[in-house]
Amino acid sequence: MARTQSQAGMRVKNGATPAAMLKDGEALELRERYVMPLPGPMYSTPLELARGQGQFVYDKDGVKYLDAFAGVATISIGHCHPYFVEKIHEQMKEFFHTSPIYVHPQLGRYAMRLIERVRSANPELEMCFFTNSGAEANELAAMLAKNYTGSHEFVALRHAYHGRTLMAAALTGQAAWRHSMPYPFGVVHAMANYTYRRPRGMTAQDFTAFCVQDFKNQIETSTSGRIAAFYAEPINGVGGVITPEPTYFPAVYEIVKRAGGLWVSDEVQTGVYRTGGSFLGIEKWGVKPDIVTMAKGLGNGYPIGAVVTTRKIADAMKGKPHFNTFGGSPVQMAAANAVLDVLEMEKIPDNVTAVGAKLFKGLKEIESRSRWAGEARGRGLMLGLELVKDKETKEPAAQEASRVLDLMKDRKVLIGRGGLYGNVLRIKPPLCFTSKDADVLVEALDDSLKRL
Ligand SMILES: Cc1ncc(COP(=O)(O)O)c(C=O)c1O
Repeated sequence: MARTQSQAGMRVKNGATPAAMLKDGEALELRERYVMPLPGPMYSTPLELARGQGQFVYDKDGVKYLDAFAGVATISIGHCHPYFVEKIHEQMKEFFHTSPIYVHPQLGRYAMRLIERVRSANPELEMCFFTNSGAEANELAAMLAKNYTGSHEFVALRHAYHGRTLMAAALTGQAAWRHSMPYPFGVVHAMANYTYRRPRGMTAQDFTAFCVQDFKNQIETSTSGRIAAFYAEPINGVGGVITPEPTYFPAVYEIVKRAGGLWVSDEVQTGVYRTGGSFLGIEKWGVKPDIVTMAKGLGNGYPIGAVVTTRKIADAMKGKPHFNTFGGSPVQMAAANAVLDVLEMEKIPDNVTAVGAKLFKGLKEIESRSRWAGEARGRGLMLGLELVKDKETKEPAAQEASRVLDLMKDRKVLIGRGGLYGNVLRIKPPLCFTSKDADVLVEALDDSLKRL
């Protein structure tokens, strides 16, 4: 039986670390007893983590694991990077919280630095707002789009994931993440350019043209013809690393613009150089987003979300101030400024490109030799491997994917899992992952697949 709250609370006073305060197995027991169901724990024997350093995490017994999931694509510069920790401490000691009704230098400085980086996707992006999460950022993006266009209709993609608040969940396109309840009206979902699961006998090119036609048709048949915005992840994350063909987004862009809509690029996972080469994932597709939403990697684990847009679109909110108690707080901004410093000091964007290319090559080789590996896909350090029971029928191998996670854990490598059928292995390590780490991961994965 788990101890009561007050019993556990009393132990806090003696200054022990949380791990030392609890008996073996009690952390899980307390979580299961007091916390509403969360995804996971991911493994058949839950993993209790105690500490992180760089691309490694350690369990409560000090066992070291190579982390290739990064707290769900969130750790960018590495766990507990000393410079990052020091900058947060410095700020905490000076001023922890002000609320954005006051002026603080960390916020202005970070806003400027973020915009400098985002503008390579669209030079007109020049205003931002800070939140605490990706879902909050997506909510604000919808409000901006509605105010600016006067429309309340949205298009999103099937298989998409945009968060757990009402509007973000309405934009999400996966049954596992939807409830039987009324969501905000006006969202339709177009076919995803999921070429691996295209109809038999169709080429990827023909399927892409079909998806573009479906997109146009959705607007013509399921909306008033005028939309507020289209939301898309440049590479879909939770939905299984679906990576569109190069022609898909540019063709859809024309349709969105003809329907008067804005392009919202949900960069919650793909931002902060995760896809290699560019700060934002959308830059790879040559589409100019009107609104960018971000979170995860911006704070390297410190909660932060951001919305960046053009002055014209931001002006649509004039007279109705937007507010967020914690968004833009001095400590949040200090953390995010430190992430940008480290990204530059350690040339992490170059690392993503080099290590990502090596890892992708390794996954493609596995794809060609393993009977379970249907398709390796993604860019940079946002990679996935879809497992199937049969390469011809492409029947999803969900249980096997779950087993691979366990087998990888036995080899002290942590990866994730996603996709509509839960059969896609997700590999999204901290961006400081090294070439040697890539070798370790590929070897462990190869071996785990052989043991299935
Ligand atoms: C693409 C994308 N958008 C939005 C979100 C929601 O972000 P948060 O969990 O910070 O609210 C996520 C979270 O995984 C995501 O992957």
